[in-house]
This record gives sequence, structure tokens and C-alpha cells, in this order.
Amino acid sequence: MNDIATPGSTIETARLLLSPLNETHAGDFESLFRNDWEAIKQTGQIPFPATKEAMQIWIAKCSIPGSHAFCVSTKVNGQSIGVVGFGGSHAISELGYILGRAFWGQGYATEAVKAMVGLARSFGLGGLQAYSFVENPASARVLEKAGFSNMGTIVREYPKRGGMRRVMHFRTIL
Ligand SMILES: CC(C)(COP(=O)(O)OP(=O)(O)OC[C@H]1O[C@@H](n2cnc3c(N)ncnc32)[C@H](O)[C@@H]1OP(=O)(O)O)[C@@H](O)C(=O)NCCC(=O)NCCS
Repeated sequence: MNDIATPGSTIETARLLLSPLNETHAGDFESLFRNDWEAIKQTGQIPFPATKEAMQIWIAKCSIPGSHAFCVSTKVNGQSIGVVGFGGSHAISELGYILGRAFWGQGYATEAVKAMVGLARSFGLGGLQAYSFVENPASARVLEKAGFSNMGTIVREYPKRGGMRRVMHFRTIL
């Protein structure tokens, strides 16, 4: 297993491969998320509808220095199941993730998030943070299972999700 990764390398966990995100993943993401507003609305930035073209633009925006985004696929058959990553302009990098609905409830998000924690640690980052809309207990549970602490509820601006929103703020110290 490759828990200590250099930037740009694929990470292997027990059941998953996390491959650095690139434009070729856009078609897979269209298949996974395209019209699933109920899933997409829980993220801050994923475009809706998640067409291949929209996802290509989103992937390009993720591909900036300091951003570490990965296509999540299963080792058993190589199928893409979602995306996970961290980055951003704040002192503590922000984590995000989404899986295709067919793959929920099997512990995959927790496994992928734990891999991100290991990667951030291997980069020498001091911590990671994440925000979960208060209406999204599944995401909060993923963060708790991955060792994040709930710092409380705050209000934060999400221009693509209706403006000011109440979110649970999670943080982990590395
Ligand atoms: C959130 C998401 C990534 C979770 O993926 P997943 O692979 O199903 O997550 P896991 O299986 O690792 O863990 C989910 C946990 O949430 C729990 N859960 C699911 N729905 C829940 C609910 N309505 N209330 C409380 N807990 C819930 C599960 O029981 C599980 O906890 P457990 O292992 O203690 O039983 C997935 O639902 C998703 O992609 N949602 C849309 C996008 C999103 O919310 N992204 C996060 C933005 S911050």
C-alpha cells in the first residue's frame, strides 16, 4: 500500500485506487453524478447538471498548485466511483468529496478520506478542515469516522448553493 505519496502519484488503500484527477475522468463523473441534484447540492462547487463539459471545466479549476484532487476507483474492477481531494487558499486546506449514489453505504468515502489525511500528513501539513451542510449527517459521520473533530456550526457563504448556509465545521490536526 502507498500511504506516503509524492504529489501526482496514485494512492492505494485496501479497496480503492485514488488517481490524480485529470480531464479524462470527466465522462465517468457525468455518468456518476449528472442529474443527481440531491447529491451535488451537498457539495460547494460541483456543477449541476454535471455534464462532461461542465466537469472538464471543474477539473481544470481543481488542477492548480496546492490542490490535490483524485478520482476514486475500486481495485476490484477499476470502476470510477467518485472524487476526493483537498486544497484551497486558507492556511488549513479544505477537504471535499462525492461518490456516485450506487456506491454509498459501503465505507468507501471514509476509506478515501482517511487516505487524504495520510497524504496531507505526508506533505507535512498541520491539519485539514471540512464543512458539511447541517442537512448532511452522512458527510458529518464520514468525517467523524476519519478522526475529524466537530468544531461547531457556523454560517458560511456558498454562492452556488443559495448564499449564506449553516455548516458543521470539522478539523483534524495532523
Ligand atoms: C457523504 C458521502 C460521501 C458518504 O459516502 P459513503 O461512502 O456512503 O460513506 P461511508 O459509507 O464511508 O459512511 C457513511 C456513514 O454515514 C452514515 N449515514 C448515512 N446516512 C445517514 C443519515 N441520514 N444520518 C446519519 N448517518 C448517516 C452511515 O450509516 C455511515 O456511518 P456508519 O458507518 O457509522 O454506519 C455520500 O453520501 C455522498 O457522496 N453524498 C453527496 C455528496 C456529499 O455529501 N459530499 C460531502 C460534502 S462535505
